Amino acid sequence: MIQLSRRPRRNRKSAGVRDLVQETSLQVSDFIYPMFVVEGTRLQSEVKSMPGIFRYSLDNLLEELKEVTDLGIKAIDLFPNYPESKKDRFASESYQENTFYLKAITAIKEQFPELVIMTDVAMDPYSSDGHDGLVENGKILNDPTLEILANMSLAQARAGADILGPSDMMDGRVGFIRRHLDSHGFTDVSIMSYSAKYASAFYGPFREALESAPKFGDKKSYQMDPANKREALLEAQLDFEEGADMLMVKPALSYLDIIRLLNENFDIPIAAYNVSGEYAMVKAAAQNGWLDGDRAMMEVLMSIRRAGAKCILTYFAKEAAVILNKR
Ligand code: PBG
Repeated sequence: MIQLSRRPRRNRKSAGVRDLVQETSLQVSDFIYPMFVVEGTRLQSEVKSMPGIFRYSLDNLLEELKEVTDLGIKAIDLFPNYPESKKDRFASESYQENTFYLKAITAIKEQFPELVIMTDVAMDPYSSDGHDGLVENGKILNDPTLEILANMSLAQARAGADILGPSDMMDGRVGFIRRHLDSHGFTDVSIMSYSAKYASAFYGPFREALESAPKFGDKKSYQMDPANKREALLEAQLDFEEGADMLMVKPALSYLDIIRLLNENFDIPIAAYNVSGEYAMVKAAAQNGWLDGDRAMMEVLMSIRRAGAKCILTYFAKEAAVILNKR
C-alpha cells in the first residue's frame, strides 16, 4: 500500500458522503422561468428552436402556471409576442393600458398572488425596427429611449409586476426608471438590471419566439462586446449606483467569469440568464442522442450557481424542478 496523507477520493466514496461535502446547491426556488404570452384564446404554439417551450394565450398560460407553481417555481419572467400590426417606431403599444401583455400580468397576479412576476423593459417586442431603443436615421438614440422605457416601466408596475428587468442596455436607464417609479409611488417595485448583457449569437431562438429580430443591423452599439470584462464592472457599478436591486449577467454559460466578477465586487444578488440558445444547444444534442440532456442540464445549472449566481433565469426551470423534487 502506498502511503498517501491525502486521498481526496475518500470524500467521494458514497452518495451520502458526496452530499455532505457538496459545496454548491441548486434549489427550485433559485429559478425564474421565462414564459411567452400571445394575444388570443386557446393558443399554444411551440417555439421551433426551443422544444418544450410554448407561446401561450392567457387562458392556457394560467393553466400552465398551475403546473409551474405546483412544481415549486416561485418566479416567472413574462415576454409578449406582438404581431407586426401592433408595432411602431415608438413602441407605443407597450404602455397602452389595455394591451394584452399588461392585462395578462394583472390576471396572473390575481390568480397567483404569491408568484413573483418579472417583466422585460425594452422596446424590441413592440418596435417596428426590432431594436431595444428608438431608431432615427439608422442610429439608436439613448436619451429619448429613456422616456419610453420609463412609461413602459410605470405601466408594468401599475399592472402588478414585482420585478422589472430593463434589458435594453441604454445608459442611465436604471436611475431614470427608478425615479419615475418612485415619483408615482411604486417604491416597492424592484429592478433587476441586465447589467452585463452581451451582443450574443445565443439570443437567436428567443427572437424567433417573439418575432422580434432587428430589421437592420445588429445590437452592438448598445449590447456589450463579448471580448470585454472590465467594461462589465463599469456597467454593474453604474446600475448599482442608480439603484438596481439585483444585477444580471447574460448569457450565462460563455460568461461564467463575468458572473464571478460581479459576485465578488457587488453586495447585491447576482442573477444569470441561461438564454434561449444555451437551451437550444442542449436540447438539440439530446434529441440527436449525442448527450444525456438531463445530466447536461443539471450540470449547466450547477455551474452557473457555482460561478456565483444566486438566481437563474432558465427555460429548464420545469424540467430541473421535476428532477430536484425527486431527490
Ligand atoms: C430583448 C431581450 C432579449 C432577450 C431577453 N430580452 C433578446 C435580445 O436582446 O435581442 C434574450 C433572451 C434569450 O435569448 O433567452 N431586449
